[in-house]
Amino acid sequence: MTQQIFAANWKMNHGPTAAAGIVSELRRRWRRFDVEMIIFPPALSFASARAAAGDPSPFKFGVQNVYYAERGAFTGENSAPMAKDAGADYVLVGHSERRHVFGETDEDTAKKCAMVERSGMTPLLCVGETLDQRNRGETAGVVTRQLRAGLAQLDQVELTTSVIAYEPVWAIGTGRNATPEDAAETHGVLRSVLRDLVGDRAAEVRILYGGSVTPANVEQILGAADVDGVLVGGASLEPDSWLSICSA
Ligand code: PGA
Repeated sequence: MTQQIFAANWKMNHGPTAAAGIVSELRRRWRRFDVEMIIFPPALSFASARAAAGDPSPFKFGVQNVYYAERGAFTGENSAPMAKDAGADYVLVGHSERRHVFGETDEDTAKKCAMVERSGMTPLLCVGETLDQRNRGETAGVVTRQLRAGLAQLDQVELTTSVIAYEPVWAIGTGRNATPEDAAETHGVLRSVLRDLVGDRAAEVRILYGGSVTPANVEQILGAADVDGVLVGGASLEPDSWLSICSA
């Protein structure tokens, strides 16, 4: 049995002061040590959030994005080695907002996953179809392409330790979550692609669901086949709702 992951993607919310306050509160109220909880603060809030978690921290931390070069003239970007140095364990790669707002390509996600692994962290690769693609019946094809492309530069060990999130674009921030049946179907597709890549060890790869997860629907979603945790945006921003999700 793999350990479930509860991941909080704060997106562009909570500056350094607010982030530290929230993490301190989460630390005070945290009771579950049988799951892996990961917080993804904005890059500028990372250090204060990480510091507020104490040492040892009961949670893991990640960054929401890195560039795939190690260093250099890339104004505005942060590298994977910098994220590692700051204390990150995970990096989100290919989040739908990166793909659809900032034009990140499958090729970019492949280079980022490789750089994240080589810097000693774990990529959390996000895949998901748009509403048009779903309506055209292309869901399985789209997520298969995104998954294969994003993982293309990883070796067998890296493949089995990476984490995947299925986040249908139409469910992110819309209040419209996938049904447990929809989630199970697509997670099944992802698991079979992984089986193709790493055989039986595909069972060890954690596949999270994301998109309008709330305290009200999290239990149903976690009950679906092949769902090994959740990636949560809006409902992870306040300690009450986030802790109630994590207690599911
Ligand atoms: P949401 O976002 O929970 O606000 O829908 C999820 C995500 O984008 O990771």
